[in-house]
Amino acid sequence: MNHLLTMNDVSTDEINKLLDRAEEFQRNPSIDTLEEKSAALLFFEPSTRTKMSFEMACDKLQMKRLTFSPEQSSVTKGESLYDTIKTLESIGSDVIIVRHPEKNYFNAIKNLIDVPMINAGDGSGEHPTQSLLDLMTIRQEFNRFEHLNVAICGDIKHSRVARSNAIALDNLGANVTLVAKEEWQDHSLPFKYHTIDEAISGVDVLMLLRVQYERHEIKEGKEESYLQTYGLTKERERAMRKGSIIMHPAPVNRGIEIDSELVECERSRIFQQMTNGVAVREAIIEHCLK
Ligand code: CP
Repeated sequence: MNHLLTMNDVSTDEINKLLDRAEEFQRNPSIDTLEEKSAALLFFEPSTRTKMSFEMACDKLQMKRLTFSPEQSSVTKGESLYDTIKTLESIGSDVIIVRHPEKNYFNAIKNLIDVPMINAGDGSGEHPTQSLLDLMTIRQEFNRFEHLNVAICGDIKHSRVARSNAIALDNLGANVTLVAKEEWQDHSLPFKYHTIDEAISGVDVLMLLRVQYERHEIKEGKEESYLQTYGLTKERERAMRKGSIIMHPAPVNRGIEIDSELVECERSRIFQQMTNGVAVREAIIEHCLK
């Protein structure tokens, strides 16, 4: 089955083809449609960008869409994820888009589902559709991935975006560096850690991550001093080299991982990432339905 569950599912050739197709959708929004097809969107965790851009992508493809809300469904009566997905498949969904808090939720069910499943985020596991829109944003800027210096900075341990992007960028030939305070480092990823000050002057892409307070075992309040020690201050932004860009998957904790005024600065591609999310998701849905 043509699922998209992790960035390991996509070859570098397929990544570039998906990005080419997303760019075609951006240039010519009515290039192709999937009028007879329907998508089910199952979000068991909150989302603004991913859910809304999947909805927009379905609308642009003229697909029918079923929006599922767990709290008003038979999940509240104990129905399992597998039975929920089989139900949506049985009533005619051609593709199922799932965000779920459990890492690797798909492993137990992926071989039992007869329609493509797209992972819209699995706990702290992966976020492949975010990664593809990030890759589109980087390729638009530099027209290549090989030998680009990319620093992924922040709450690496709890970030599905960090994992998907580190895997994909490494496969595509970029030089990946990680920046995180010690308790948020994930040593299962085969990349070196540096401080943000060590990383900043050499980067082409500074990819910031949200501090994922909701995933922390010890609940601390928003730490204003985080910005000064680990985040992107105005002083650090001035130390970035000419032509380098700032990315962040959002939502942004303004004033924590990035100075609020930098969110919309000249180097920032944060809102461009969101724009790219629609066309990338059109390309992904089309790819999975082929
Ligand atoms: N970047 C991202 O996944 O945002 P949402 O949680 O709002 O979908």
